[in-house]
Amino acid sequence: MKTIRVNLSDDSYNIFIDKGILKGIGDMLAKEKQPCKTLLITDKNIDRIYSHIVTESLAQHGFRVKSFTLTPGEDQKSLETAMILYEACFDHKLDRSSLIVALGGGVAGDMSGFVAATFMRGIPFIQIPTSLLAQVDSSIGGKVAVNHPRGKNMIGSFYQPLAVFIDTETLSTLPAIELVTGLVEVIKYGVIKDAELFEYIEKSLYDILQLDQKALLKIIATSCQIKADIVAEDEKEKHVRAILNYGHTIGHAIEALTHYKKYRHGEAVAIGMLYAARIAVEMGLTGSTVFERQLSLVKRLGLPLSTGLKPKDIIKTLYLDKKAVSGKLRFVLPTGIGEVIISDQVTEEILSHVLTGNFV
Ligand code: GLY
Repeated sequence: MKTIRVNLSDDSYNIFIDKGILKGIGDMLAKEKQPCKTLLITDKNIDRIYSHIVTESLAQHGFRVKSFTLTPGEDQKSLETAMILYEACFDHKLDRSSLIVALGGGVAGDMSGFVAATFMRGIPFIQIPTSLLAQVDSSIGGKVAVNHPRGKNMIGSFYQPLAVFIDTETLSTLPAIELVTGLVEVIKYGVIKDAELFEYIEKSLYDILQLDQKALLKIIATSCQIKADIVAEDEKEKHVRAILNYGHTIGHAIEALTHYKKYRHGEAVAIGMLYAARIAVEMGLTGSTVFERQLSLVKRLGLPLSTGLKPKDIIKTLYLDKKAVSGKLRFVLPTGIGEVIISDQVTEEILSHVLTGNFV
């Protein structure tokens, strides 16, 4: 078992990572929290496969569990769904000593975290992420949110979980495309902080895609450690945490312009990373191999390389993003593999030039 600490003084917590830990979750959780009333929030797909394992293990250790099952899909991440979940919290008579358990991907995690952060001004919650994206990114660091008609994740807070439990075996029931798009975030960690991780992905991509447990444990634990260190340094994204948005500036614009329907998050971020790398090369911040190595990985993953969107529409949308500061665009740009800078020096001229090019 790998244990990673997220150091945030009173809000510090552990991330536990191993193969098959779901069935022992009650035992592990009982070491972190007194048995209590518990609301397990999951979605229909995950419920079928994993809810009974988690519920039985928790019940064996005295947790009194009621479940709430969401319809899968990003459109469930809304204030309307939060209202329904508050009803479930009231019905189960949860109070500040109770617990919410988020079991599933990013939607279940963000939604449960938002409800946990706001019900009675905050009750404890744990994350049991079952998708690669949630395991390496959204379950860690306390960003919880719901969507607003005017933008994704616009209503939310920073609210840290009590613990995160990652069972690498859950990836065996994840659709292949979700594994591949989750890997984009792992590649991101390589580019922003860890050249060795990037090289490992280049060398071990086949093993990772074959769900070799040793390879999965290595990439997930390394990603979680990188994120834990960054979050510990800058929980509220005042400075260094922004580097986690590598590829997300243009990625989010692509998602927004295609109404979050055409591209999965990881697909849009992969294209965003390629554009960001091209911008860095164009500005003389790094050599072309930094771009080419990322392009080669994205190609090996079979991800889309173009969107057909107009550069001027992408640029217009970039200004609406919450990462734009005082009307200035902010980009995370690689200066090598494993090193990035945050820059507000990307001119519209460079942007438009790079966005006009393609990657084939
Ligand atoms: N997903 C970026 C962050 O947690 O800051």
